[in-house]
This record gives sequence, C-alpha cells and structure tokens, in this order.
Amino acid sequence: MSQNAWQEVLTYEHDLIVRGLALLNTELDNLEAGKADLVKMQQILDFLLDFGDKVHNVKEENHLFPLLVERGVPQSGLIRDMLLEHEAERELLVRALTRLNMMLHASLEDRHLFVNKLRAYAARRQEHIEIENKELYPLGIAAIPLEDVDKLLASFARVDEINLYQNAVLHFTRLLQHWEERPSAPLPAARTLSNSEWQAVVDHLPLAMVFYDAQNIAEMSNSLAQRRTIPWQDVRPAESQMAALFEKLRSGSEDSAVVTKESGGRNFQLVYRAVRNEKGVFIGTLEIVTEIKP
Ligand SMILES: [Fe+2]
Ligand SMILES: [Fe+2]
Repeated sequence: MSQNAWQEVLTYEHDLIVRGLALLNTELDNLEAGKADLVKMQQILDFLLDFGDKVHNVKEENHLFPLLVERGVPQSGLIRDMLLEHEAERELLVRALTRLNMMLHASLEDRHLFVNKLRAYAARRQEHIEIENKELYPLGIAAIPLEDVDKLLASFARVDEINLYQNAVLHFTRLLQHWEERPSAPLPAARTLSNSEWQAVVDHLPLAMVFYDAQNIAEMSNSLAQRRTIPWQDVRPAESQMAALFEKLRSGSEDSAVVTKESGGRNFQLVYRAVRNEKGVFIGTLEIVTEIKP
C-alpha cells in the first residue's frame, strides 16, 4: 500500500467528475440552442449528484477531512472552504433537477438563467477540483501517515457500498465512456454488475458454468457445492483434447463444440463456446454443463 493510494482514488474520481462536467456543458449548449435532451441532462445531473456528491464529496467530508484535522491540518481555511462549496453544490444540483422539467416550455430568459447558473456551477466545480488536487491533497500526503492509509481506503469502499453499491466507480466509468463514445445513444438499460453479484447469478444457474480466460485459466464458475455433483473426471474431455478444442475456438475455426458423456448412469452434455468482445477479440471460453435425459 503506497502512501498516496487514497489520493489516487480521489483524483481518479475528480477525473470522472470533470468528464461529467464536460458532458453537462455540451447539454447546456444544446438547451440554449433549443434542442435539449432533457432525459440525458437529467442523467448527467444525477451522475453529478449521485457520484460527485453522495460518493466523492462524502468520502472527503466524512473521512478525509476529519483525518486531516486529526493529523494537524487546520479546519479553518481550505477545508472549511471546500465544505461550504460541497453544501452549495448539493443544493444547486437538487434545485436544478427539480426545475429541469420546466425548462422545455420555459421562456428564453428563464432558460438562459438556468443555463448560466449551471455553467457557473461547472466552472466553480472545476476550480474546486483543481484546488483539491494542487493544494489540499498534497497537504494530506504530507500529513497522513502510511498506517492510516488502509483504514481510509476501507472507509472509501464502505461509502461506495452504502451510498450506491460496490464498484460504483467502475459503473460510472463505463457510463461516462458510453456517453462520450455514443453521445446520442440512450442510457444502457442496466448498470454493470459487480463481481459478487455476477457470482451470485452464476450460483443460481440450474447447471454448471465455467469461464476460462484467453490463457485457459478458469475464472468464474458456480459455487463449489454445485460443481461437486458433477463427476468432472469422467465427463470432461482429456486435457490434450481440451487444449485442442480451446485452440479451435480461439482461432475462430469453430465457434462452439458439444461433447456428451455418460457417467454412473447419468448423461451430461458439455457445450463450449468462444467468447469474444464487441470488437471480435477472443477473451475466453465458456463451458456449460447440463445433465440430459438418456
Ligand atoms: Fe471537495
Ligand atoms: Fe474532491
């Protein structure tokens, strides 16, 4: 654990917020030009409130700032300024979200006012982030000893989980990427599942599933209890056959393969499928095992 690990977490979050602010500014230009996508604007404001405030600011307010004070950084000055700005930001975002629906039919003047307030907010938020990056966090690096870093990072992870869910940062990183790469596309229907959620889903499958990564190393499978009911030694092809099969799937000469085996009066079907990402790059093989009627 390095001494600046906490700073890396928060600076990365700042980068995400800055990207959100850029998206907000684009939508504000659209609103002023009379071609606003209010749904998207709402999603961006939600991001700035749900992530920028409830996740990021809360990490600073409830964990980083108190630790800084405990370690001798004066509460007056920078910390007080930052806290006041968090409060003002929170109020402004909530107000903007409640007023947003009225903007479609608002007078030009009202729309202009709304846009200007949010533009000023975006500029101020950006400055706030720069002050933290360049002044406050370096103070923290000098003040926070290595032995406090683990505890601080654990508190950050708890904020993610309590205020949103595990892996909130990963979810929002993907969401921003989606908006940036496909500006006019609607929001993806579902958020990204965390590893533990995926594991729970896999454990509920009425069959066994194993994912092998591109190096043929098993990455994710059902819980051990479920897998134990399958006589793997009997039903799985020999290691050399498996290697040949993975190679065919990797090369693309075959997309899937089916193997059926009998063991102790039970019949099993094993399906192997090549898994490729959206660019067609091979990322691994899925093995699905089901018990079938003879
Ligand atoms: Fe802050
Ligand atoms: Fe911050």
